[in-house]
Amino acid sequence: MSRKIFKNVIVIGQGYVGLPLAVNAAKSGYKVYGFDISKEKIEQLKNGHSDSPDIKKSDLLRLQKKGKIEFTSTIPKLNEQSIIVIAVPTPLDANRKPDLSMLIKACELVARVIVDNSLVVSESTSYIGTLRDLIKPTIDKLSYAKDIMYAVAPERIDPGNTKWGMKNTPRVIAGLDDIATQMAVKFYSKFCNKIHIASKPEVAEAAKLFENTYRQVNIALVNELSNIADVIGFSTHETITAASTKPFGFMPFYPSIGVGGHCIPVDPSYLAFSAESAGTEAKFINLANLTNSAMPKIIAGRIEIFLDGNLSGKKIQIAGITYKPNISDIRESPALDLMKELKALGASVSWHDPFVTKYNDQQSSELNSEIDLGLIVTPHSQIDFSVWKVSGTKVLDLSANIINFGWPKFL
Ligand SMILES: NC(=O)c1ccc[n+]([C@@H]2O[C@H](COP(=O)([O-])OP(=O)(O)OC[C@H]3O[C@@H](n4cnc5c(N)ncnc54)[C@H](O)[C@@H]3O)[C@@H](O)[C@H]2O)c1
Repeated sequence: MSRKIFKNVIVIGQGYVGLPLAVNAAKSGYKVYGFDISKEKIEQLKNGHSDSPDIKKSDLLRLQKKGKIEFTSTIPKLNEQSIIVIAVPTPLDANRKPDLSMLIKACELVARVIVDNSLVVSESTSYIGTLRDLIKPTIDKLSYAKDIMYAVAPERIDPGNTKWGMKNTPRVIAGLDDIATQMAVKFYSKFCNKIHIASKPEVAEAAKLFENTYRQVNIALVNELSNIADVIGFSTHETITAASTKPFGFMPFYPSIGVGGHCIPVDPSYLAFSAESAGTEAKFINLANLTNSAMPKIIAGRIEIFLDGNLSGKKIQIAGITYKPNISDIRESPALDLMKELKALGASVSWHDPFVTKYNDQQSSELNSEIDLGLIVTPHSQIDFSVWKVSGTKVLDLSANIINFGWPKFL
């Protein structure tokens, strides 16, 4: 049956989620069009450059040369049925409510080019019911195409994670009907070892939100423990090590200056939004958000006490300002809030990050020892701490990372 054969894939959005998908689909034999509204990003990709730590330049160049992948800032109009995967950002607005403007815009663009019997898959994280109540109606209303199939396959990628990637991380999939589910499963089976089929898209959407909410709530809980430990006077890390000896019913999470990136600080608020829209309340989520977002201010206060109760004129350098090690993403990074809080207390703050050259008109500076305090916030593996070690600089390790850098864990 013709509707079961797909040769072309269009991936809308070539970021941390869309680009690895485009590359994996191209390697699996599909002809892939990697579309992004950012002309600058498309030019970079054409030259083999990307922000995704898991994508090799050689793959980008080879796949383009072979004609397997084409990067474009003009959405391609294909005459035959295609798989169209949406992977655009779904951030929060100023009131920390879902901002689906980019998703809606993507749907409007899809509607312009989609043809009969195509399959639309959403990988963008969103509130429960987005596929059925927003994506499908938006595309159906604006296009003339018939028999479009719709599915969700929420991405779980953890950029920079060398153990768990697209291939060995099971994929949850659900279509609006059986044929859509089957078609989506067939597609993802080409580059994912294990597929879990959910009975309906709402379950897959909820699962994605719940996974990240689980992390957000547990991180908040351990951050609360760290605040309690500070007041009572014991080590959170040693406590977690002791608790982790229990062989069942406990999973360690580590304290930090807060949560960052496009997932943990954002996705739980989409679940809270679903709850509120349905007339109920997400108490844990709201409390966890408050707990995590309060951390930079709390830590700045603790640092002030550590430096004799006065940060005025003190020179502090932060190592690593992205939200996690070994990637360049500074979205929602709590390091930026910590910097603001320290400055508000009078400190002069510089930062070093090999992945970020400029932030807020300030440049990354080399690690130096002419400071009152060094803070390890995001320990990228390529940061060489020897300058601080050799000079005996006063350093606090604020990272959630469990690698021991030789300085005391401050949280
Ligand atoms: N980053 C992660 O680790 C991660 C993991 C799992 C799921 N997600 C989810 O995946 C989605 C995408 O996140 P991301 O991190 O890849 O974002 P990103 O910012 O890295 O990339 C998104 C890309 O989409 C492009 N874009 C925006 N609007 C567009 C449009 N209308 N048409 C074409 N391109 C458009 C942007 O220019 C950008 O390059 C989000 O819903 C996010 O929650 C992200």
